[in-house]
Amino acid sequence: VSLSMDELSRRIAVLKKEMNAVILAHYYTLPEIQQVADVVGDSLALARAAEQIDADVIVFAGVYFMGETAKILNPGKLVLMPDRNAGCPLADSCPPEDFRKFRAEHPGAVAITYINSTAELKALSDITCTSSNAERIVGMIPEETPIIFGPDRNLGGYIARKLNREILLWQGFCYVHDAYSASVIENACAMNPEAELIAHPECREEVLRLASFVGSTQALLDHTVASGATSFIVATEPGILYEMQRRSPGKTFIPAPRDSRPGGSICTQMKQNTLEKLYRCMLDRSPEITVPEPLRSEALKPVRRMLEMSA
Ligand code: 13P
Ligand code: SF4
Repeated sequence: VSLSMDELSRRIAVLKKEMNAVILAHYYTLPEIQQVADVVGDSLALARAAEQIDADVIVFAGVYFMGETAKILNPGKLVLMPDRNAGCPLADSCPPEDFRKFRAEHPGAVAITYINSTAELKALSDITCTSSNAERIVGMIPEETPIIFGPDRNLGGYIARKLNREILLWQGFCYVHDAYSASVIENACAMNPEAELIAHPECREEVLRLASFVGSTQALLDHTVASGATSFIVATEPGILYEMQRRSPGKTFIPAPRDSRPGGSICTQMKQNTLEKLYRCMLDRSPEITVPEPLRSEALKPVRRMLEMSA
């Protein structure tokens, strides 16, 4: 029998108490998931929350690298995910062996790796970053030190332009954000002249150049609350519109179109987190996310460095 959303939410709340669990969710998950979560945030906030949790169980509604990072940071906890096949294609686009070669071609360079990466890739890196601290972290590296950055070329390129600094980029991208083009977005802006265009740095350069504000999901959300504008075209995964609208009920939010049809560019993997699967994973205490040693300890080093540098 399939249970109603209300019944699932009720049972999840009961299980949460029984299991002494905390539910973390990313802003791109479905509204009903965000509603039952204890913490909803961007990648940095969720990593920080995961590190500090002292409940017995962490239930992570996000994509695989997020659950994996939670386990890396807090290995004593049982980490569950509603769907362990919800992977981030960007994270999976950078095979560790190829990255090892890329590093070897640039001896002496510091490797800064986006948190959207596998544990194996993190273990090959010096520092991780998220979209909310990438600029700060790159800015802390001495001018004369070369930097290699992966896997997202759009975020890396954005930081390079912002800091006027050469960065050697791995050529990965997020299919959700890379799908936006300047021409389609310009058209949306022309049709909504009063709206402010805001964009995530995983978007292409041609889109970022048009935006009046660029930032992580949390920074975009904060901006929509603080800005005097009353309508926004939002060039990031439209799951964030739920919280934007909740925080600013009087404002209008338009998902940036990816082509001539209305609607945004959806992250299918984030939407694999359904309420039903969230309930099931708690009931079954599975799928559990594990990271074997010594991989975990090796992957922890660059993540810790990031947290120290962005304190
Ligand atoms: P942030 O929430 O850290 O901005 O990351 C966006 C993203 O694509 C997560 O996968
Ligand atoms: Fe990965 Fe892009 Fe989905 Fe974020 S939006 S989880 S970067 S595929």
